[in-house]
Amino acid sequence: MRNIITHPGADNLIYEIREIVEVANKVKAYGQPVVWENIGDPVAKGESVPAWIKEYVAKALKEDTTYGYSPTKGLLATREYIAHERNIEGGIQITADDILFFNGLGDAISKLYDHLHPSARVIGPNPAYPTHSSAEAAHADSQHFTYALDPQRGWQPDLAELERKVSENKHISGILIINPDNPTGYVYSPETLKKIVAIAKKYQLFIISDEIYSNLVYDGVEYCKLAAVIDDVPGIAMRGISKEFPWPGGRCGWVEFYNRDKDEDFNRYTKSLIDAKMLEVCSTTLPQRLIPEVMQDERYFPYLAARNQKYQARAELAAEVLADIPELTVHKPQGAFYMTATFAAGALTDSQQLPIQNNAVAQLISSLVATEIPLDKRFVYYLLGATGVCVVPLRGGFNSTYDGFRFTLLEEDEGTFQHTIETIRQAVTDYLHST
Ligand SMILES: Cc1ncc(COP(=O)(O)O)c(C=O)c1O
Repeated sequence: MRNIITHPGADNLIYEIREIVEVANKVKAYGQPVVWENIGDPVAKGESVPAWIKEYVAKALKEDTTYGYSPTKGLLATREYIAHERNIEGGIQITADDILFFNGLGDAISKLYDHLHPSARVIGPNPAYPTHSSAEAAHADSQHFTYALDPQRGWQPDLAELERKVSENKHISGILIINPDNPTGYVYSPETLKKIVAIAKKYQLFIISDEIYSNLVYDGVEYCKLAAVIDDVPGIAMRGISKEFPWPGGRCGWVEFYNRDKDEDFNRYTKSLIDAKMLEVCSTTLPQRLIPEVMQDERYFPYLAARNQKYQARAELAAEVLADIPELTVHKPQGAFYMTATFAAGALTDSQQLPIQNNAVAQLISSLVATEIPLDKRFVYYLLGATGVCVVPLRGGFNSTYDGFRFTLLEEDEGTFQHTIETIRQAVTDYLHST
């Protein structure tokens, strides 16, 4: 190329959740069956979308309007429905005008960071959901700033660290929370949320709250949306149907803008997001068209409750099975469908191994661990090679400073899930004691 055409932030775009798939596919091709515990797609893990939701889709497909463009912000009836639901929950009041649809939250996330001023930074949790942390890092061509979710305190955020970093770094302009969190399953209490809002208010920051799992909160857990505590702080809540319906292939999510009238610059920023969507014309019409019908159907919330019960039961089982490894910290998630285990500092070394029976797989894993890689990724490769269980390492996969790994709670068959978790437990034990 006559000039460099690659964006300086390009190397920050890392999505280990899918990258590990390339290695796992090779392992599979060499004859080792793979148990896919890496990606949060309920459909890929065998969950069936209810027939009654499919009937709404089939009905919508018979209408000509489904095939047309929608308004830039999204179908008006759908936005009105969402605004109405939001308003009857209490807290901040919005109108259909404060809602903007995207082709999935992945699209929304990349637009949000792309359109931030180059020097404006957003601090997010550690471990981090990589679409946020990578997009934020790429936008600034710099490492993503994080505050710790503390594995020793049930993944509660370290608010002292958050405030210290915010006060020390004048470029931090926003705080990201993911609630319920991916990868930890942590749910922010109303008190914690209020403290985060207070920090945002004190330092004149805006808040992004990714609430894609907000209807996947387990029984007995108090859940509070950003809207309930935002007060007069500018904020953006993110919602979607990928995990709920579940319809990840529908590529449909939306953002809700709060307190646009309270800050002129925040208002201009949200307008730039709307204008960017206008250049694209709009987001996909079909899934938007179905949201009011599906969510108002009396079967919807009982259906979600049944799914949540299943994830909660899987979480309890996994926590029980993994509890007795002293070097491993696990907490029962309170929502979403992931669980994260962290290794104690110093527990992992670069000489630990697992025996791999399949020669071709053994060679592949040896070549991968011969390069300089984080210690948790090394464990994840051995786990994959020796047992076929495919999980995601925390350091590379979730921009984390902790060694650990994430697996999902999506497995439909309880016996299969139990077997997978027992396989992980045995592998962790053998690996830690291999030297
Ligand atoms: C926290 C979080 N936000 C956003 C997304 C992306 O969702 P979508 O399918 O709407 O792009 C995911 C997907 O796993 C997620 O876990």
